[in-house]
Amino acid sequence: MSFDRGRHFLAIPGPSVIPDEVLRAMHRPAVNIYEGPLIDLTHSIYPDLKRIVGTEGEAFVYIANGHGAWDAALSNVISAGDSVLVLESGSFAPGWGEMAASQGANVETLQAPTRRGVDPAAVETRLREDREQAIKAVLVVQIDTASGVWNDIAAIRRALDAAGHPALLMVDCIAATGCVPYAMDDWGVDVTVSASQKGLMTPPGLGFVFANEKAMAVRRANGCRSLYWDWLPRAEPDHYYKLFFGTAPVQHLFGLRRALDMIADEGLEAVFRRHRTVAAGVRAAVEHWGRGGPIELNVLDPAARANSVTTILTGDIDADALRRHCEAELGVTLGIGLGQTVNAFRIGHMGHVNPPMILGTLAAVELGLTQTGAPFTPGGVEAATAAMAAESN
Ligand SMILES: Cc1ncc(COP(=O)(O)O)c(C=O)c1O
Repeated sequence: MSFDRGRHFLAIPGPSVIPDEVLRAMHRPAVNIYEGPLIDLTHSIYPDLKRIVGTEGEAFVYIANGHGAWDAALSNVISAGDSVLVLESGSFAPGWGEMAASQGANVETLQAPTRRGVDPAAVETRLREDREQAIKAVLVVQIDTASGVWNDIAAIRRALDAAGHPALLMVDCIAATGCVPYAMDDWGVDVTVSASQKGLMTPPGLGFVFANEKAMAVRRANGCRSLYWDWLPRAEPDHYYKLFFGTAPVQHLFGLRRALDMIADEGLEAVFRRHRTVAAGVRAAVEHWGRGGPIELNVLDPAARANSVTTILTGDIDADALRRHCEAELGVTLGIGLGQTVNAFRIGHMGHVNPPMILGTLAAVELGLTQTGAPFTPGGVEAATAAMAAESN
């Protein structure tokens, strides 16, 4: 019997739930893209994005998803034949590395220890071995949406510094921006990549790249293989029309403006705390369900667990069957497992989420586990509530 009535909840790790306010802000006819309010609105977006990412460097807004933003970033600083070191901790840094390879880079991958985050000491060791300093860039994600790993970017920066290596540090924050703290300039990140559809609560379609002076200098020295991605014309203040190299993504810009206002109203610290709190609830539920059974958190190191997404291993429980049951019968869509070698599913807890949305999701999963006859320890929702109470104190 299906109980999927009422508002269906999308608990996948992006695209995330779009607030009604953002949808309403987007619901408007096309406007003049050459003059009028859209111009000021567009310019107002840049300082706000830079504040969230923590940079006074350049910001570029592209009509693109995350893959487009990856491509844009690489096109400006990587030339064919350059060596790139990819710090693997899930599926996404390797995906970015594949894109670098498609641009002619020599890509080497340093694997993180199994089910853990990137080990900064291993990064330092590898970079010290690169005596010729052939490696031009190090690619890493702050949060890997497949594994649920959070990487300590400040520690990785310290590893580059300890090795005295000049490679650019390039960080994908697509599943992290607007969910967890990030300080591009303070941490010495050279290039940051992000996108609209997760913590920024806006539909997919806007890709963001931030570059510091060191990265801009590399661009100036190397050229850029694509005029569309090129930072230099987009950095010109007079070239508004060139910002988007064509028609501006009007409705997305109105939506993003509203989302940024919502983040400012709440305050970044409060946004991070909310994410910390709901994530603590999800983890507590999963650990409780797993007592004496096959369910477990994918990430072994508690310090490396992301606050925007949780990846759950289910052992011999058929995670896809559970997911389908929850979607068809219980009104909640869970994320598929990505890149795991065993049964897995993911819960997204990023962006426009609050305790009832997350506790409701956990309760539905618990109901689904019961209805499908899976072996688990009931009481996860109670454990989640207690963890959220403790975290929010
Ligand atoms: C960390 C991370 N990087 C990159 C991407 C790719 O972004 P997109 O699917 O928008 O191309 C994703 C998508 O989920 C992601 O989570």
